[in-house]
Amino acid sequence: MARYSHIVGWGMYVPERVVTNDDLAKIVDTSDEWIRTRTGIRERHIVDKPNESTSTLAVRAARAALDKAGLPPSALDMIIVATSSPDHLFPATACIVQDALGATRAGAYDLSAACSGFVYGMAMAHGLIVSGQADTVMVIGAETLSRLVDWSDRNTCVLFGDGAGAIIMQAREEPGGFLASVLGADGSGANLLTLPAGGSKLPASVETVRNGDHYIKMDGRAVFRFATRVMAEATREVVEKAGLTLDDVELIIPHQANTRIIDSSVIKQLKFPKERVFVNLDRYGNTSTASIPIALTEAVEQGRLNPGDHVVFVGFGAGLTWAAALIQWGMPAPPLPTWKRWWYRFWYPWSRLLSAYRRLRRRVFAAWLGTKERSQEELESLRERTRRGTEDRS
Ligand code: COA
Repeated sequence: MARYSHIVGWGMYVPERVVTNDDLAKIVDTSDEWIRTRTGIRERHIVDKPNESTSTLAVRAARAALDKAGLPPSALDMIIVATSSPDHLFPATACIVQDALGATRAGAYDLSAACSGFVYGMAMAHGLIVSGQADTVMVIGAETLSRLVDWSDRNTCVLFGDGAGAIIMQAREEPGGFLASVLGADGSGANLLTLPAGGSKLPASVETVRNGDHYIKMDGRAVFRFATRVMAEATREVVEKAGLTLDDVELIIPHQANTRIIDSSVIKQLKFPKERVFVNLDRYGNTSTASIPIALTEAVEQGRLNPGDHVVFVGFGAGLTWAAALIQWGMPAPPLPTWKRWWYRFWYPWSRLLSAYRRLRRRVFAAWLGTKERSQEELESLRERTRRGTEDRS
């Protein structure tokens, strides 16, 4: 039996706080006119509460996608979170999301391919599904880049926004769904868009903080040139790979970085009609991995996709990386009966309670085990090691 992977759920979430170009003009030397004409961005959403982070945005988008698909979190076999601004270097943000959803059957990992990450994630999900390793996979793109930009650097702080988007891909027997993908990388351009410090090459120190090495650094012009070339090439390639032509494509959803990049790549180079390219970056800025799933969610809600339509997702980003995927849109899921909606709503507080119980049990167990072990040989060997260390130094 042939297996196909279809998108069966989608959802998005952006933080409430809106920052306009005029707001930014109060903190850096810029203007609404410059930002609009050079990028197309008018405003972006930014996290402004200490308890908001990439995982909290991801969870909100994930719940919306589960609602849309009419699935409980226990249906998920895998959660992939594509992000460049994870909650921590480790554990993976995907594990925090898995716990918050109560997706107890799911594996979870983060994927780092910068703004191309969401499309990379879709290709990984497709691979898991068609190979029979998973039936239902959630792919999330989530970012809080506002926590990583230098708010005194006008070259970067005007570009980015925070948000999250999620989809659920599921195995189906009907042909369609994910038809083809193109994934690429060119590490020789790694220095063009980078966050230099905080990893193993340049660990955090007073010096790195003083130099501002924990902020995003970018050569905007070089990234622009690269983006306009690869967006057009990757789109052309993925359409050919699927055995189609551009005329068969009803909608292109490009990475929402800059309207000038979209205009000079898919619209001018491919001569693709502007009205069949989805753009919403004016309201969100560049939300990196979240930009494509946020755009997809809005496109579906605006009725821009009908069953049978072919849609291309295409992105580029740090790495350098690029990625394109071609999907044949399927039938929407029937709406959930009310009792199921209520049951799912009840599920989230219940799974939080279970998670708190597991934490408590681990603590009690560790405290009990810790006392027991320390009272025996471990304590003696620790004393011996400390003694030897002190003698060596003296
Ligand atoms: N407000 C006002 N002026 C600004 C500015 C801002 N926010 N940012 C830069 N400038 C200035 C520059 O300092 C420069 O001044 P100078 O000529 O006196 O040196 C001038 O505007 C032109 O800068 P330039 O970099 O040539 O502008 P640009 O037309 O290339 O636009 C970007 C800059 C960043 C918008 C554009 O290069 C871009 O979008 N690059 C891709 C970035 C991207 O997508 N990154 C994410 C990848 S996922």
